[in-house]
Amino acid sequence: MHFASKDIPAASAYKLLTSTVVPRPIAFVTTISADGIVNAAPFSFFNAMGSEPPVVALGFEPKADGSDKDTPNNIFDTGEFVVNIVDENLASQMNICAGPYPASESEIEAAELATVQSLEVAPPRISLSPVSFECKLFQNVPLGGGGHIVIGEILHFHVRDDIIESLDPLRINVRKLDAIARLTGADYARTTDTFQIKRPT
Ligand SMILES: Cc1cc2nc3c(=O)[nH]c(=O)nc-3n(C[C@H](O)[C@H](O)[C@H](O)COP(=O)(O)O)c2cc1C
Repeated sequence: MHFASKDIPAASAYKLLTSTVVPRPIAFVTTISADGIVNAAPFSFFNAMGSEPPVVALGFEPKADGSDKDTPNNIFDTGEFVVNIVDENLASQMNICAGPYPASESEIEAAELATVQSLEVAPPRISLSPVSFECKLFQNVPLGGGGHIVIGEILHFHVRDDIIESLDPLRINVRKLDAIARLTGADYARTTDTFQIKRPT
């Protein structure tokens, strides 16, 4: 079967993408509004995009009324955000934060999430997250239909000590990280079922 993008509604393109680009890593993003309210929400249109400078990209869909979600709004207002990686332990609190909270309400309180002050940006990081990236806005790419791709430059990497295997060379224990990933709908994947293929030299 074939689908031409110009002939299908955006909702079908969304379904095709989110059911086939799997598994997707999850950025649990903390931001602060211009009014000082701490916001937290998960985004799986997310990946690492480069290392010099280290950058991540996030894809924001518009809300049903076409307006921006609180997270991109806060990023555009302040230029700052924190990406927190989600392990299985954080999954249910992450899911609570995907609820339709108004901008005036903090998901941090609703999900009873403890936070730690960041070093260089105003939004705090999530204490339970094994890895957090303090980011500043690098570039916003408006998509025309109301969505945005936001590229963030990572200023600081915070990594829980026990998942660092060695410092020289720097090695992270991916099993101990225990990151979860989004499939589609309510389905998630673990990162524990792995196999190895050696690259040709
Ligand atoms: C695992 C997961 C991944 C999600 N990924 C995205 C995404 O990539 N882009 C998006 O716009 N919304 C995504 N959502 C929905 C947002 O989390 C949801 O709209 C949230 O209410 C936005 O919060 P905010 O308005 O505080 O930014 C995702 C939800 C879940 C549970």
